[in-house]
Amino acid sequence: MKEAVRRLKVEGRTIGLVPTMGFLHEGHLSLVRECRRSADVTVVSIFVNPLQFGPREDLAAYPRDMERDAGLLEREDVDILFAPEAGDIYPEGYQTTVDVPGLSRNLCGSSRPGHFKGVATVVLKLFNIVRADLAFFGQKDAQQAAVLKRMAADLNLDVEVRVLPIVREPDGLAMSSRNVYLTPEERAAAVALSRALAEAGRLFDRGERRAEVLSARVRMLIEREPAGRLDYVEVVGVSDLAPLERIDRDALVALAVYFGRTRLIDNIVLEMKGKQK
Ligand code: PAJ
Repeated sequence: MKEAVRRLKVEGRTIGLVPTMGFLHEGHLSLVRECRRSADVTVVSIFVNPLQFGPREDLAAYPRDMERDAGLLEREDVDILFAPEAGDIYPEGYQTTVDVPGLSRNLCGSSRPGHFKGVATVVLKLFNIVRADLAFFGQKDAQQAAVLKRMAADLNLDVEVRVLPIVREPDGLAMSSRNVYLTPEERAAAVALSRALAEAGRLFDRGERRAEVLSARVRMLIEREPAGRLDYVEVVGVSDLAPLERIDRDALVALAVYFGRTRLIDNIVLEMKGKQK
């Protein structure tokens, strides 16, 4: 990968990177397509990063299908599929990690301690190996996007981090590699996440600015669904992820819900632009 990049850089070509953990779906492919439009060379990485999984999480069970993924990427005309081995990324005796502590604390950070340190570390490594000029991430993982933007700014990285909208199933469920874990009953119930967030969006559009009212409504709509167990719902500033009492700037309503052992996340951005405080 490094050798290929050296040649591309000499030729003066811009390199775009789409980091993934594979088991690709239309959400991933939307990033790939935007990368193809924006950069001369598109690199997609597939690496199920052990460092971002907790000890009781689904690292071993995480869905994998390299052959199918490679076929999908070929159809999208991706230039390079980069699928490193764990030993290439974490050499024996490695010690160095990247932590973005403030943005990693709340939301998913409280139930997944160490997760964003794992994400920031692997993404910085991918940036260094691929020497990406542009990198594409999904708003589906809003906290991850905020952490990585902060990291890129804080560490003077030469990469521009771009964040693209959430791609959803026809009924509204945010696409995720983890959706395959859901039983048919859980899959049907999981539509509650996007419905609850859409309801928060409607209340906001009608002028509701109290965060507690919005999160209470979302909580009620999720708790009405017996198959799901709410992990959190929070209303936070869109880039600093700080809890808001009143929505007086762009905000994010973010939530995580367990269905059995499967943990799903989703969010909606509430934009103040042109609206009254
Ligand atoms: P993964 O879950 O495979 O997601 C790869 C990228 O696809 C992330 O930027 C994620 O936000 C985006 N994505 C996932 N579902 C999406 C959807 N429904 N709509 C739009 N974008 C979506 O996120 C990771 O992998 C890892 O943490 C990684 C960044 C690769 C580091 O290991």
